[in-house]
Amino acid sequence: MTYPVLPKPASDQMRVRPHIADIDLARQGFTWDAVAKELGWLPGGDLNKAYLCIDRHANGPLASKLAMIWEGKGGEEERYTFADLKAETNRIANALAQLGVKKGDRVFLFLDRVPELYFTFFAALKLGAVIGPLFSAFGPDPVRDRLQDSGAAVLVTQPDLLRKVEGILGDLPALKHIVVLRRNTAEQPVANRRCQDYAALVRGASSSFTIVPTSYDDFSVMHYTSGTTGKPKGAVHRHLAILQQYATGKWVLDLHPDDIYWCTADPGWVTGTSYGMLAPWSNGVTQVISQAGFSARGWYQTIQKHRVTVWYTAPTAIRMLMKAGEALPARHDLSSLRHICSVGEPLNPEAVMWGMKAFKQPIHDNWWQTETGAIMIANYASMPVRPGSMGKPLPGVEAAVVDAYGKTTTPGTEGDLALRPGWPSMFQTYWNNRPLYESRFRNGWYITGDRARMDTDGYFWFVGRSDDVINTAGHKVGPFEVESVLLEHPAVAEAAVIGKPDPLAMEIVKAFVALKDGYQPTDELRHSIMQHARARLQSIAPRELEFRPSLPKTRSGKIMRRLLKAQELGLPLGDTSTLEE
Ligand code: PRX
Repeated sequence: MTYPVLPKPASDQMRVRPHIADIDLARQGFTWDAVAKELGWLPGGDLNKAYLCIDRHANGPLASKLAMIWEGKGGEEERYTFADLKAETNRIANALAQLGVKKGDRVFLFLDRVPELYFTFFAALKLGAVIGPLFSAFGPDPVRDRLQDSGAAVLVTQPDLLRKVEGILGDLPALKHIVVLRRNTAEQPVANRRCQDYAALVRGASSSFTIVPTSYDDFSVMHYTSGTTGKPKGAVHRHLAILQQYATGKWVLDLHPDDIYWCTADPGWVTGTSYGMLAPWSNGVTQVISQAGFSARGWYQTIQKHRVTVWYTAPTAIRMLMKAGEALPARHDLSSLRHICSVGEPLNPEAVMWGMKAFKQPIHDNWWQTETGAIMIANYASMPVRPGSMGKPLPGVEAAVVDAYGKTTTPGTEGDLALRPGWPSMFQTYWNNRPLYESRFRNGWYITGDRARMDTDGYFWFVGRSDDVINTAGHKVGPFEVESVLLEHPAVAEAAVIGKPDPLAMEIVKAFVALKDGYQPTDELRHSIMQHARARLQSIAPRELEFRPSLPKTRSGKIMRRLLKAQELGLPLGDTSTLEE
C-alpha cells in the first residue's frame, strides 16, 4: 500500500495561524539567541526553569490564568492558576530549605500524578536541586538502583508507595529525608525516623521565596533511561534546556494562548516532564493533567469535557484507541481538537490514516530521546505529512544520517541517525558514568542509537533501533517497515518483529502479533496475515508468526523487542525495571 502525502492544510481552514509557516524558511539563519530574547533571558545571567514556567507568569498579566486542571482517578477536579502555583511551590520550597536541601542535592519524586508532584518538582528547581522523577508503579529494586546511583538526599512519596519500598531504606545511607504526602488524611502516617509529613511542613511555610541563583549550565532534571543490558543510566539535563522545551512547545505542539493542552505521558518518563510540565507552562498555557490510566472511553471523555485543543500522546495509546474502534470517537464531541502529536515509538502510517478518519486530521509524529531533552525532528502543523516519516529537524538542530565512520551519507541511504552537539536541551552526562556518555559521540556527532534514512526533500524516516535491526539473507530489515505492514491487516492490533538466528539466512524475521477484539488466534488467521505480509514484503516477510494476548511494553508504552528476543532464545532478560506489569 502506498500512502498519500497528506496535503498542507489550507490557511483559511486552520483555526489558528501555525507558529511555523514554513519549516525550511524557519531554519534559515536561525539562532537560539532569538529564543533567549523572547524569554527575556540575557545569556550569562541567571536562568531557572521554575522562574520561566511559573513566577514569570504569576508576576505578570497571566497571574489569574488557569495553569492546571487536575482530574483525579475518581473524576474529582482541582484547578490552579499561575499565582496558585507560585504560592504552592514557594511553600514547599521553604519547607525543603528548612530541612537543609541545597543547590545540587538530588530530590527524587516517587508520587502518583497528583498536584503536589508538580508543586514539588518546581519547588526543588527553585532551590537549585536536581530532580529525579520516578514512575509510581516502580517496585523496590528500580527505586533502590536509582536512589543509590544518584545519591539522592530527599525522597518525596506517599504512604502506600513508601510501604512498597520500606525494605530498601536501609540500603540508602545518603537519603536524609522522606517527605510523605498524605492526600487522604485518614491514611496512617508512616513511622520512620527519616519521615516528615508534607502537610505539616507546608502548613506554617511562607508563600514567598527567593529563587536560589542558578546558571544556564546548572543541572536541573535527571531521568533514568534503560539500556539493553546493565543498569539504567541517569541522563542529566541543565536549566538551559528550557529554551528548547519552550520553543518546541511553540513550534511543534503549536501552543497558542487560548489552548487547553493535554499530554498523556507520566512524569516518570521524560515526555511527562519536558512536555507535561516545562513546555506548556513556559508558554503560559493551561494544561489538563489526568491521574486516570488508559481507557479509550475515559480519554475521549477527558477531551470532550475539557475541550482539549492540543493533544500530545504516544503510538501505543493510538493503537489502543484504534483497537477500540471508530464508533467510540464518533459518539463523543471531539470538535475542540485542532492539533494532535505523537512520540515515543514510530507512528505507523496506518495510525496516521486512522487519525484522519477518527479525528479528521493527521497525527503529527515527532522524534526525540531522553538524552536530547526535547523534540529534535518533527512534523509541523503547517507541513504536508508523509505518513510514516518523523518529519524535519527543528530550526537550530542539525540532524544527519551517518555511516560507521561518522560521515554523512547520501539521501536515501540507511545509516545511524546523528545530531550535531550543541542544542540547548542536550544531556550533559550520564550520572556517574562519563565514559558511557563519551562513547555516544563519533566524528563530531552524537550517535542516537537509531537507524534512519533521509529522503531527497529532507524528511527523516525511522528504520529501527540499531540493536533491533534484523539481518536476513543479506538484507538489513528495520522492524518498523515489517510491523507497519502487519498492522494493515484488519485483525492485527499490535505487532513486533525480531531476528531469530537461522543457519542459512543468518536470521529470519519472526513476528509476534496481538489481535483486535473479536478475532481468534487460528491457523487460518495466521495464514491470512502471513499471506498479506508476503504479498507486500516478499523476501523480508516474517517466516514465523506467534500470537500473543498482548506484547511486553515499557511504562512509556514502547514495545520491548529485546525482551521478546531474549524469551525466544532463552537468554537473560536484561534490565526489566521499566517493564509494565
Ligand atoms: O528509538 C527511538 C524511539 O524512542 C527512543 C527514545 O526513547 P526515550 O528516551 O524513552 O524517549 C523519550 C522521549 C520520546 C528513540 O531513540 N522513538 C521516540 N520517538 C520516536 C521513536 N522512534 C520512531 N519515531 C518516533 N517518533
